[in-house]
Amino acid sequence: MNAARCGILAAGTMLVDHVHLIDDWPEQGRLATILHSESATGGAVPNVLRTLARMKTGLPLAAVGLVGDDLDGEFIRQCLLDDDIDCRWLQAAALPTSMTQVMTNHRNGQRTFFHAHGCNAAFDASLLAELHTPHKIVHLAYLLLLQQLEKPDADYGIVAARLFHQLQQKGYLTALDLVSVDEPVRARKVVLPTLPYVDYLIINELEAATLVGKPLRQADGTPHAAGIADAARELLHLGVKQVVVIHSPEGAWAAKSDGESLFVPAYWIEPQEIAGTVGAGDAFCAGVLYALHQQWGLRETLQLGNACARFNLRSTNAVDGAAPLGELRAFITAHSTQEQE
Ligand SMILES: Nc1ncnc2c1ncn2[C@@H]1O[C@H](COP(=O)(O)OP(=O)(O)OP(=O)(O)O)[C@@H](O)[C@H]1O
Ligand SMILES: [Mg+2]
Repeated sequence: MNAARCGILAAGTMLVDHVHLIDDWPEQGRLATILHSESATGGAVPNVLRTLARMKTGLPLAAVGLVGDDLDGEFIRQCLLDDDIDCRWLQAAALPTSMTQVMTNHRNGQRTFFHAHGCNAAFDASLLAELHTPHKIVHLAYLLLLQQLEKPDADYGIVAARLFHQLQQKGYLTALDLVSVDEPVRARKVVLPTLPYVDYLIINELEAATLVGKPLRQADGTPHAAGIADAARELLHLGVKQVVVIHSPEGAWAAKSDGESLFVPAYWIEPQEIAGTVGAGDAFCAGVLYALHQQWGLRETLQLGNACARFNLRSTNAVDGAAPLGELRAFITAHSTQEQE
């Protein structure tokens, strides 16, 4: 590993959310009126990178992914460029940009989603094959939504495993996040062969439960703390090279290859005080990735992840809650002082 490497590159899912406030949900075949519309970037790549950009750490940031030759593609590119994120590895695809139409009912706040897979479905290992950059970490997300990476591979079992190995062989540290799916057999088939080539696995407790094949919440809905800590260690035994982080609204658990393991509670706020949870998991990843990049201790790493996620909850979209690193650190210090009082 080249000590001079610096920066974080995120690869994978990118999309646009078109959020419409409608007067009421119409009967099928009837009309609803759109009262207000706004668009926002979504998906792991924009969410993680734009959160990091707003932390103003000075780390080089770069995006790898596919956008269509259309207005949504231009929107994603422009938002990333406005945040000083390097877009030279964004590729134009023949398919439309991936997008979701989100209908928010003014009457009851209920949200309904219409998603078009678009060009994320064509994201494959070739996008990273020629990658030779000085970045230190490549974060790939969301595996289990990138169908080309699930194809079988004669040597590795699955294409994703070969890709992660190639990235490590080039000198990158690799980080992986998943999407929660209700298909345990497919999830394990794709993810387990990949783990030996993952340096940092950062997932939520539902995804961890799927991988280890055990429920990690108790009958009353509370997290099974000992079970989650065991799952983090099990995922290390299954191959993750350096650190496994499992996060949930209640807090984050981590296990490290040197045997250290730890739980750090979230900076809890009541659900009615949350403006929106969109991208909270990605904001958590952004904080953890920065701390890992800087080789912070495990406790400080989880605190920063929790703080980034907590700040994300202040806004309805995935990035506007993000804050500069100084503000996040002041928040963490203030909380630690309160806990000691
Ligand atoms: N009520 C809350 N109070 C404080 N922090 C919270 C709350 N809910 C969520 N968080 C924070 O947000 C983080 C991400 O939430 P969660 O674990 O539900 O992510 P996720 O389901 O993977 O989200 P995503 O869909 O964005 O990937 C949590 O780890 C926690 O730090
Ligand atoms: Mg997540």
